[in-house]
Amino acid sequence: MRVAFTLNGHRVEVDVESSETLLDTLRLRLGVKSVKRGCERGECGACSVLLDGRPVVSCLLLTVQVEGREIVTVEGLYGDELFEELFEEFSKNFAIQCGYCTPGMLLTSYALVKRASGGPLRVSGDHIVKAIEGNLCRCGTYPRVVRAVSRVLERRLPSGSRL
Ligand code: FES
Repeated sequence: MRVAFTLNGHRVEVDVESSETLLDTLRLRLGVKSVKRGCERGECGACSVLLDGRPVVSCLLLTVQVEGREIVTVEGLYGDELFEELFEEFSKNFAIQCGYCTPGMLLTSYALVKRASGGPLRVSGDHIVKAIEGNLCRCGTYPRVVRAVSRVLERRLPSGSRL
């Protein structure tokens, strides 16, 4: 079946099997390597992508389900001001160890900060923990990820909604 969607700002058309997951299409057909293969059961978050701006696990999505939708991966965010700021804080706070979970963590954090920056949402450390709870990290970087995301939120949110 031929499926068309937007990937990192570019329209793509790809021939897929009807039972093919978005994870397989991205990695095997489109060469998107930041989307990692982990549990393939929707539990680890290593395969996270943004679907119309929201983080989802690509191993549980069939590619045919994303017809006409917008997919963003880490590759599509290089040069984005917020993404670069997050990446810098991840680096400064040593929130990257083996790196396997990092693309998913970054995408999930990006979506949270973007949502929080766009409205009156009050964000606490608990919100960050909740946002990344679907992204498992075997190296145990969670406190560092929370610290990195907190730094970005503290700079970006209006003073009334600070952490
Ligand atoms: Fe998709 Fe683990 S590989 S959630």
